[in-house]
Amino acid sequence: MISPVILAIESSCDETSAAVFKDNKICANIIATQEVHAKYGGVVPEMASRAHEKHIIPVVQEALLAASTTKNELDAIAFTKGPGLLGALLVGNTFAKSLALSLNKPLIGVNHMQAHILAHFIGDKTPRFPFLCLTVSGGHTQIVLVKNYLDMEIIGETQDDAAGEAFDKTAKLLDLPYPGGPLIDQYAAKGNAHAFDFPLTQMPEYNFSFSGIKTAILYFLRGRLKQDKDFIQKNLNDICASVQYTLIETLSQKLVKAAKDYNIHEIAIAGGVAANKGLRNKIAVLSRQHNWNTYIPDFKYCTDNAAMIAQMAFYLFQNNYYENQSTEPDPRMAFINLRA
Ligand code: KG4
Ligand code: ZN
Repeated sequence: MISPVILAIESSCDETSAAVFKDNKICANIIATQEVHAKYGGVVPEMASRAHEKHIIPVVQEALLAASTTKNELDAIAFTKGPGLLGALLVGNTFAKSLALSLNKPLIGVNHMQAHILAHFIGDKTPRFPFLCLTVSGGHTQIVLVKNYLDMEIIGETQDDAAGEAFDKTAKLLDLPYPGGPLIDQYAAKGNAHAFDFPLTQMPEYNFSFSGIKTAILYFLRGRLKQDKDFIQKNLNDICASVQYTLIETLSQKLVKAAKDYNIHEIAIAGGVAANKGLRNKIAVLSRQHNWNTYIPDFKYCTDNAAMIAQMAFYLFQNNYYENQSTEPDPRMAFINLRA
C-alpha cells in the first residue's frame, strides 16, 4: 500500500503542534510551546485557546514546509478530538474541519492518551503486543493493557490528581514556575531521596491517588517554614528528591503488580512525566530485576506533540475510521477501540 500523507494537529493543552506522516514515517513535527502560562503557575484555558489560534497557521505551514509537501498532497487531516481543554481542542477541531472541507479530504479524530502510547511506534524499537503502558501526563495517570494498535484497555488509573499534576502542584508550593515537573527533576538529581519521608498512598488494584501526597507536602512545608523561613531555599534539592522518590515509588509499585498479575514482560512508559530522569532510571532498574523489555520514548515524543497524533491517525486511516463535519471535541473522550 502506498503510504498516505497525513497532516496532524495537536491542541489539547498548552502546546500547538503540527506533524506530517509521509513515506510511512513522521517527516515533520513542529511544536510551539505557550510561554504565557508560566507566570500564572498553571495553564489558563482561555489564554491557551487564544495562543493556539495565534500559532496554528504558522505551525502548520512550517510542518508542511519541513516535510517538503503541500496541502494538495494531503490524503487526510487529523486532529486531537480529546481528552483535553474544551476551548483548546476547539481550535484544532475547527481548523482541521475547515481544511478537510476545503480540500475535500477525510477527517480523523484522535484520542490524545492513546496517541501518547502509540508514540512508541514512531521509532525502530517498538514494543510487542500485548504490552503494558504506564501513561503519566499532566492530566492522566493510567496503566493500559495494549493488545493491538487500536485495542487498548485501561486497567488502572488515578482517582484524583494526575502524576504530572502532583509534580506541578508541588513545584508551585516550592515557588517554582509552571510547568514544575522538569524543574523538580533537575533539583532532585542533586538531592537525597531519603532526606524526608512522605506517605505512599495505598489504593486498590492498579489505581492511584496523588491528592494525599500533595496535602502531606503542603502540611510538611507549612510546619518547617514556621521553624525556618528559609527552609525551602536551604533544602530544595532534598525536598525535590524526596517528593520525586515518593511519586515514582507509587507509580512503579502498581506497574510491578500489574506486570506480575498479567504475566507481561513488555513494559512501556509514555506521557510528559515519562521524560522524568528518575522515572526512566527506575524503569531501567525494574527491567533488570523483573526481566522486562522496557520501552521509553525519545524525550521529544514524551511531552505533547503532533507526531504521536499523526501516528495514531495512520492506524485509523488504514481502518477508514473517519469523522464527519458535525464532529465536536470531546474533553473526556473514551478510547477508540476497533477490535478485529
Ligand atoms: O503529556 P504532557 O506533555 O501533557 C499532558 O497531556 O498533560 O504532560 C505534561 C506534564 C506536566 O505535568 C509536566 O510537569 C510533566 O508532564 N513533565 C515532567 C517532566 N517533563 C514534563 N514531570 C516530571 N519530570 C519531568 N522531566
Ligand atoms: Zn499529553
